[in-house]
Amino acid sequence: MTVRAILAGTGSALPRTRVSNAELAARVDTSDEWIVERTGIRFRHIAEPDETTATLGADAARQALAAAGLEPSDIGLIIVATATPDNTFPASATKVQALLGAPDCIAFDVAAVCSGFLYAVSVADSMLRTGAAKHALVIGSETFSRILDWEDRTTCVLFGDGAGAVVLSAEDVEDGRGILATRLHAEGKYCDMLYVDGGPSTTGTVGHVRMQGREVFRHAVTNLASVLGEVMTDVGLSPDQIDWIVPHQANKRIIDATAKKLGLPPERVVLTVDQHANTSAASVPLALDLAVRDGRIKRGDLVVLEAMGGGFTWGAAVLRV
Ligand code: UT7
Repeated sequence: MTVRAILAGTGSALPRTRVSNAELAARVDTSDEWIVERTGIRFRHIAEPDETTATLGADAARQALAAAGLEPSDIGLIIVATATPDNTFPASATKVQALLGAPDCIAFDVAAVCSGFLYAVSVADSMLRTGAAKHALVIGSETFSRILDWEDRTTCVLFGDGAGAVVLSAEDVEDGRGILATRLHAEGKYCDMLYVDGGPSTTGTVGHVRMQGREVFRHAVTNLASVLGEVMTDVGLSPDQIDWIVPHQANKRIIDATAKKLGLPPERVVLTVDQHANTSAASVPLALDLAVRDGRIKRGDLVVLEAMGGGFTWGAAVLRV
């Protein structure tokens, strides 16, 4: 008997307001040309005051539940990956639980910034395989617009808001489906390269995103190519057997360089950075949902997820859909 966490459903949610590079250039010293050339970003969604990490997360979760054919009462575990929780506490996962009307279950947040969804998937995978729950909601949800310094053009043009969700279900599989491997990493010595300059225990303020972009870029390409190599070795498969790679959507140049290192053609890469910008922990599940809904990712496909972010933290997962 092999119990695995299978992908039972996906969902996503974007704030109502979409902002183009040109609109941003009207209030920040930047240009559409610079943003597109350096990052591939064209649009981002920005949350209105009534749209929060928990409400967006709950909207994405409702879609994922519907796709899985499940009710909130079927869920035994809710994990929200976020660096922008509604409140310092309680966990946004408990707020999502309340918004869904889900009864008593396990609910907590994971903070690993842009790699948060990969960390949450790995934790959920372990908990499902060891019987802690039968069905889990794993959500990446962010309102990064709330922690951007809109005077800092080197960061504020890069991020957007949104949420993505998956339902993972523990199943006794015989057809090779499910999460086949996950790998996680962290190197805290680089914590001052991408961070928020505030927090409850230091300044008592929320703070703003600060980033040494060029350094992050350099580490991202190296770390992502290496962790992708690790998970593929774990499952005994070669990169040419990957049907789809769903990368963290920080910068098209990072995505292209990583795919090139693995020898993966661009047609097998799911790209949303142009439409969503970098939505941190939400970027991978948002892109995954898009590619499942438009029919690109199909039952039986071998899909690889990867992300890297502040900490540094990074990780990857291989699943058979
Ligand atoms: O999700 C977590 C992971 N995060 C990332 O992966 C982000 C990684 N880093 C990057 O994506 C890129 O490093 C950036 C997009 C942030 C920056 O691109 P770059 O090619 O590394 O540019 P740069 O930082 O070397 O800056 C080049 C120039 C500078 O001007 P000078 O010094 O050459 O005169 C900047 O001042 O571009 C200037 N610049 C801008 N110009 C117009 C920086 N930001 C902007 C802007 N608009 N928004």
